[in-house]
Amino acid sequence: MGREVGNFLSRIFLGTSITCIDTFDGGQDDYGHNAADLPVIERRFEANLSLYPGRVRKLTSTSTKALAGLGEEGAQFDLIYIDGGHDRDTVHVDSLLAWPLLKDGGIAIWDDYEGGRSDTIERRPEEAINLFVASRRGQIEILHRNYQLIARKVSDGSRKTGMRSYMAEMALRSLRLRRVG
Ligand SMILES: C[S@@+](CC[C@H](N)C(=O)[O-])C[C@H]1O[C@@H](n2cnc3c(N)ncnc32)[C@H](O)[C@@H]1O
Repeated sequence: MGREVGNFLSRIFLGTSITCIDTFDGGQDDYGHNAADLPVIERRFEANLSLYPGRVRKLTSTSTKALAGLGEEGAQFDLIYIDGGHDRDTVHVDSLLAWPLLKDGGIAIWDDYEGGRSDTIERRPEEAINLFVASRRGQIEILHRNYQLIARKVSDGSRKTGMRSYMAEMALRSLRLRRVG
């Protein structure tokens, strides 16, 4: 747990900070599969991220509550990684709440885009991501579509020039590192 986060902090975004949202109860997907694993997972998260003091804000909460709270704070992020609940409706709500928190030019990454294909459409993220992307056409540039979907939030101006932001390059570089790592 915290593997992706640690990867971003140590290998890619030196000097940056990160906000992590997790209920640490496994969610409906029963991540960890066994209730006894959950405290272990949370301790592993703490241990992995203790390497980055002062750079990690941990919000133990449902994503809905935490994202709404961040919205009220006026928080803005360069990169948002969506990998909480994996059922369609949770991913849809997470996407809707997270998008306004993303800076113009920022990068959104949805994990498990192609995941759970043996499951029903309601129990996997793909349809929610497709719906969201379609609903934001004109504001979104797809950079990568595979097991993860990576997109950049664009204003019409930057879209016309086809500019690729620094953050986009870094997110793509991270993805390549994860593949070989
Ligand atoms: C697939 S894991 C994420 C792994 C993480 N990306 C990492 O670095 O290892 C999914 C996590 O989302 C959490 N989760 C599931 N549904 C959630 C929800 N509605 N709100 C917040 N967290 C949720 C689970 O507790 C679990 O830890």
